[in-house]
Amino acid sequence: MINVIFLGFGNVNNHLFDALHKSTEITIKQVFNRNYIKMISPFEDIPFTDDVSKIKEADIYIIGIPDDAISSFSSSLPFQNRLVVHTSGGVSMDALSNKNRRGIFYPLQTFSKQREIDFKNIPICIEAENSKDLELLQSLGEKISENVVEISSEKRAKLHLAAVFVNNFTNHLYHIGSEILKVDDLPFDLLKPLILETASKIENLSPEKAQTGPAKRSDLKTIEKHLHLLGNSRYRKLYELFTEEIKQNYGKKL
Ligand SMILES: NC(=O)c1ccc[n+]([C@@H]2O[C@H](COP(=O)([O-])OP(=O)(O)OC[C@H]3O[C@@H](n4cnc5c(N)ncnc54)[C@H](OP(=O)(O)O)[C@@H]3O)[C@@H](O)[C@H]2O)c1
Repeated sequence: MINVIFLGFGNVNNHLFDALHKSTEITIKQVFNRNYIKMISPFEDIPFTDDVSKIKEADIYIIGIPDDAISSFSSSLPFQNRLVVHTSGGVSMDALSNKNRRGIFYPLQTFSKQREIDFKNIPICIEAENSKDLELLQSLGEKISENVVEISSEKRAKLHLAAVFVNNFTNHLYHIGSEILKVDDLPFDLLKPLILETASKIENLSPEKAQTGPAKRSDLKTIEKHLHLLGNSRYRKLYELFTEEIKQNYGKKL
């Protein structure tokens, strides 16, 4: 049995809580959050505290709070020599206070509270200062995922950088697409099959092979037309940057 305490209860820790709670080999001993949270059915038996001095003893403490708050929060914990991990892709393990044994439990996925998540295929990137803690994190990860990998802080930072490109930036491009359509009362739904196919074809094709569009084909008249439609819009710069970048990648300069 592995005893776990959640420190912070945002998007990630909510999802980890739900997933780990289903395992018969995990006991969630407590949830801490700096502001009061009412534990709702069927979790009302799980103790909650908003007082750091009342945090109980556990095998693993999972900090799930914004990146910039991790360091000072970990220093504020009133205990020592216990295994404390955080769930961030972009924050190094060293950011955690060294009064406790440090580790990482980073699930490589995008989490929003309102979306259900199946952890089975989600890579869980782990790191620890010693082999025993690493084994414990491996074992914790395997309770919910079939893809638990040991990755150093340096490599995790690169992974996170790549993830920001493929997830956050792509999602922002969806937003730009929806804004462009809104002006002409066109529904975003029209783009959804395209978005889904773009994502699913990289299961079998490399991103480089999967690329299509006017920039790759060097359809200059179409590109000019798009720039004309954009006028002085703030999206123009992005259009030009992406077009130039794709051109360079396929060996044709604009
Ligand atoms: N969301 C994702 O898709 C995702 C994916 C992978 C990894 N991560 C990582 O997981 C971590 C948490 O992300 P999240 O999206 O779950 O964040 P989030 O939903 O914004 O987390 C909010 C939680 O952090 C607490 N909090 C905020 N500032 C705090 C502070 N200064 N001190 C103590 N607690 C504080 C909040 O407490 P109150 O309720 O009291 O405000 C709340 O419990 C981050 O390190 C992030 O990089 C996120």
